Amino acid sequence: MSATITSDAPVSRLDPFSERFLNDPYPPHRELRDAGPVVRLERYGIWAMARHEQVHAALNDPETFRSAAGVGLADFTKEKPFRPPSLLLEADPPEHSRARRTITGVLSPKRVRSLREAFEREAHALVERVVDQGRFDAVDEFAEAFPTKVFPDAVGVPDKGRENLMAYGNMVFNAFGPQNEIFRESAKGQDEVREWIAEMCLRENLRDGGLGADIYEHAPRHEMGPDEAALLVRSLLSAGVDTTVHGLGNAIYCFATHPDQWAAVHADPSRARAAFEEVVRFESPVQTFFRTTTRAVEVEGVTLPEGEKVLLFLAAANRDPRHWEEPDRFDVERRASGHVGFGSGIHACVGQMLARLEADVLIGALARRVEAIELDGEPELKLNNTLRGLASLPVRVHPASA
Ligand code: HEM
Repeated sequence: MSATITSDAPVSRLDPFSERFLNDPYPPHRELRDAGPVVRLERYGIWAMARHEQVHAALNDPETFRSAAGVGLADFTKEKPFRPPSLLLEADPPEHSRARRTITGVLSPKRVRSLREAFEREAHALVERVVDQGRFDAVDEFAEAFPTKVFPDAVGVPDKGRENLMAYGNMVFNAFGPQNEIFRESAKGQDEVREWIAEMCLRENLRDGGLGADIYEHAPRHEMGPDEAALLVRSLLSAGVDTTVHGLGNAIYCFATHPDQWAAVHADPSRARAAFEEVVRFESPVQTFFRTTTRAVEVEGVTLPEGEKVLLFLAAANRDPRHWEEPDRFDVERRASGHVGFGSGIHACVGQMLARLEADVLIGALARRVEAIELDGEPELKLNNTLRGLASLPVRVHPASA
């Protein structure tokens, strides 16, 4: 039976990848949520879901909403992907399950905990440095400086060339959207970046004892060969840097613009972890991901045919008033669990414990030393088709008296 698009589906002209939308996504998010549980986006001929209930349900129904046809706008069954697909993000069971078991074996809670001491050393040194400076750019000199040091250290990537990590992530996340100007700009001069990444995925370039080498060690247990292990290392290098950098940058922005909330974290630095969870809900670093329907599916009276692209607005779900009380209020004491900023279901972020550890350690160290954070100039957004974060965030910090 072939399904047709029912005429009663709400239709929107919004372009979620336009500069206007990306600059201030919250009003259009509201518009999409209010338009209905599922909305047709005319411009791209795709569907969108922006309410928490439907986004959460789609993420937890991979049999209907698959990832192997790509989690971006491109449909891999019709278009050639710009790089070999990820064995995790762009895969369905049973292939996905094998890769997932390998990587969760490597990123076990015990292994992630073992990184804490090294992370704390770096965080302490970085916090002392910025407190000495007093005024600094909280993106470059803080949110970016930390993950681009501790994460490749943990994976076992050599020092030389690490600046490629941010450029690569920026392009990969742009590539989930259309080939617009934002994407084209980030893809300029990427040949060398991609070459460097491919080399860093090879066993011989990864330090013994690092997470990358561990992937090669675990892979054969799940019938995965060295080529597949290399692709799993690529997953870490693609998804593990820009996401965390934006999360930390967004955190400092939220604290600088909500001084009472920073005061609460400063008064009790053990709140750092929960506060970061609220940041991921409130200013979600990953805004959207696509799925593709495997069959005709009815969503609240609207039939989506098979093979359709569906854009899931994680960030809009995270501020849906149907699910959250006062969703537009940044509140570090809120129980933010249940947000979909790290996804949900079988593809839920495999690095979330590591991201939380980075945030806990860095924000905790800052909270112990700094009483107040204030803006010291205009923050500048870094536009990306998938990520929300800042290019620059001038701040001034006031150290707590000893
Ligand atoms: C604040 C930081 C982070 C955020 C907001 C974030 C967000 C997400 C989201 C929303 C997904 C779900 C994708 C989907 O459903 O299609 C995801 C998956 C993933 N993340 Fe993260 N992430 C972060 C940090 C990290 C880190 C540090 C790593 C690496 C250690 C990582 C590795 C991955 C991988 C490999 C997947 C794919 C998992 C799968 O498909 O099974 N992420 N992440």
